[in-house]
Amino acid sequence: MTSETIVKGRILGFGTSPFVDRPQDAARLHDALVISDGRIAAVGEWDRLRAAHPAAAVADHGEQLVLAGFVDAHAHYPQTAIIASWGKRLIDWLNTYTFPEESRFGDPDYAAAIATRYFDLTLAHGTTTTCSFCTIHPESADAYFAEAQRRGQRVIGGKTCMDRNAPDGLRDDAQSAYDDSRALLQRWHGTDRIGYAITPRFTPTSTPEQLAALGALWAEHPDCLMQTHLSEQTDEIEWVRSLYPSARDYLDTYEMHGLLGANGLYGHAIHLEPRERDRLRETGAALVHCPTSNTFIGSGLFDMAGLMAEGQRVGLATDTGGGSSFSMLRTMAAAYEIAQLRGMALHPAQLLWLATAGSAAALHLEDRIGIIAPGMEADLVALNLSSTPAIAQRAGRANDIWEAVFPTIMMGDDRAIAQVWINGQARLA
Ligand code: GUN
Ligand code: ZN
Repeated sequence: MTSETIVKGRILGFGTSPFVDRPQDAARLHDALVISDGRIAAVGEWDRLRAAHPAAAVADHGEQLVLAGFVDAHAHYPQTAIIASWGKRLIDWLNTYTFPEESRFGDPDYAAAIATRYFDLTLAHGTTTTCSFCTIHPESADAYFAEAQRRGQRVIGGKTCMDRNAPDGLRDDAQSAYDDSRALLQRWHGTDRIGYAITPRFTPTSTPEQLAALGALWAEHPDCLMQTHLSEQTDEIEWVRSLYPSARDYLDTYEMHGLLGANGLYGHAIHLEPRERDRLRETGAALVHCPTSNTFIGSGLFDMAGLMAEGQRVGLATDTGGGSSFSMLRTMAAAYEIAQLRGMALHPAQLLWLATAGSAAALHLEDRIGIIAPGMEADLVALNLSSTPAIAQRAGRANDIWEAVFPTIMMGDDRAIAQVWINGQARLA
């Protein structure tokens, strides 16, 4: 007989998008869900579910808020050890901190140690799915996928490709980037819960030949994702313009090489031209908002209101270690603050949706994770909404669920994570 668990608590799901419908109407509160064989089997009222599943074990989470596990749609696991490095903007930050650290990942033991540390840290922060860049070394991708596989996690990742404007030891070439990426995607894509993303780092670090080779690889494997960076800082955009004087804009440098499509993920996407916005929307590509990174490296203010209003597909991400946190709670807080600076107050339901269903949809995983509904994979998180004295005293004044959860969004960290389930298995003490 399959073992079943009923999770009892304040279960928060979404019937629709809180950017389309009124946020309060998009959300659904239940008081129990049933996990069976790693999936959500039922969601609803405790009395009815208990009666229908009398033999199920019960995990009683009381007043805790249970939602889909957080989905981090853009991260760099190899930057775990250099997170919060001081004083640089993007290009200097890459050269000073990132590239020297990424040079170490040709060593499979080092890559495995950091992959383990990264998944320990992200899980402790309630993140159940990550989409990560690796380094140029195939070993770094093998380490990331092997660790995720060991933990049964649904992840996406890819070997980062760079064949110029990077130091010795951190450059591949057009052919080896194609060959190594192809071998990795053949080894990992669709294995257990793993998906492969073809990963040119960004236009400045790839020759036209490399971008074209990766565009060709994507055309041969269109079910893979493709992840890169787009229009993060104004200096970077100027650099791209000087490298590609004939391109219409930054996005065009990808588009002209076959690197624009519905399965494309474009990190940051802050300083977009109208043509770029049109093309991203027309193709159904995903923009990934990385708010702690955008403030930490000083990149700019993502136009959440405008992009959502025009119907873009948007995910949310830490961008660890350009981002200054492993926490999707902290990331939601930064998204809130950036939206405020642009005149929009994101509703708590919108923030939670972005960190779960929105990011899952950006990764084209919306039929598997990110939503609490029967048939979905049981990757869940339980939040203690009174995890510190400061949060507890504010939550104690709450008049509704949104006032109760907002202090945790704004002030919470890993102490708020009461439990995490991966594929139906409880993972924290
Ligand atoms: N652009 C190219 N590479 C990177 C990176 O590692 N982090 C960030 N934030 N931006 C990038
Ligand atoms: Zn990034």
